[in-house]
Amino acid sequence: MNNPFTLQGKVILVTGASSGIGRAVAIECSRMGAKVIITARNSSRLEETFSQLEGKGHSLFTADISKPDVIENMIPNLPSLDGITHCAGIIKNIPFVYASPENIEEVMKINFYAPAEITRMSIKAKKLKRDSSVVFISSVSGVFCSAIASSVYSASKGAINGLLKGMALDLAPKGIRVNSINPGVVETHIFDADVISREQLEEDKKRYPLKRFGKPEEIAYAAVYLLSDASAWITGTNLLIDGGYTLL
Ligand SMILES: NC(=O)c1ccc[n+]([C@@H]2O[C@H](COP(=O)([O-])OP(=O)(O)OC[C@H]3O[C@@H](n4cnc5c(N)ncnc54)[C@H](OP(=O)(O)O)[C@@H]3O)[C@@H](O)[C@H]2O)c1
Repeated sequence: MNNPFTLQGKVILVTGASSGIGRAVAIECSRMGAKVIITARNSSRLEETFSQLEGKGHSLFTADISKPDVIENMIPNLPSLDGITHCAGIIKNIPFVYASPENIEEVMKINFYAPAEITRMSIKAKKLKRDSSVVFISSVSGVFCSAIASSVYSASKGAINGLLKGMALDLAPKGIRVNSINPGVVETHIFDADVISREQLEEDKKRYPLKRFGKPEEIAYAAVYLLSDASAWITGTNLLIDGGYTLL
């Protein structure tokens, strides 16, 4: 039976795969038949993800992609790719007046430069195939709205948004599609660093029309769609998944 949503025969790189959304994307891609290459810094959590992948032929490697030399070294070792899902990211809550250039650099390194450079260098090294698909896990923040003390985080996600619009135009002649997924709050470890208190998160939850936060797999299903041939005519777009949050 023809299934346009299948990832059978595709090779997909997933960053930030040791946790949260990246882990779910890796697992769901494997369930749809892809061979996945997963990366993050924490080897034991990455292996935990690896153990949950379905099918054969997957691989993993640890890398701190906030470091340009690490990205440079990893590209030649990648196989030919049908897609990349950029899930690695950090959140930093800091009021704008206290946001130093160092704070901005810390966030931009991982949320903006790393996905931009991994994609650019993969194309230059001819690792991204014709008709491949690049998916950025962006956010509602910085594209549709923001939050108190989120200016730096919003800036990193807004920058990805601008990047992908231009990239989509530049890469269309190669058949490479570029899109983002823009989630509202998703239950992952990203808030473990106490950037937002549990009480504040419970308050925020009440503002969601669907009265709950998202689940990592609900973002992963959209990534599968954007990586698959079912979305072959979609490029340069932002897919909002937020339980209705930005309606109000
Ligand atoms: N959760 C949400 O509510 C939400 C909402 C909107 C957008 N997002 C976005 O979704 C993406 C995934 O977030 P998440 O919620 O799944 O967070 P998470 O559970 O904290 O996962 C973040 C991932 O990024 C990796 N990472 C962080 N710094 C890295 C570095 N320097 N080098 C390599 N890998 C690095 C982490 O792995 P290691 O620590 O092992 O390196 C981890 O696998 C992020 O871009 C985030 O901004 C999340």
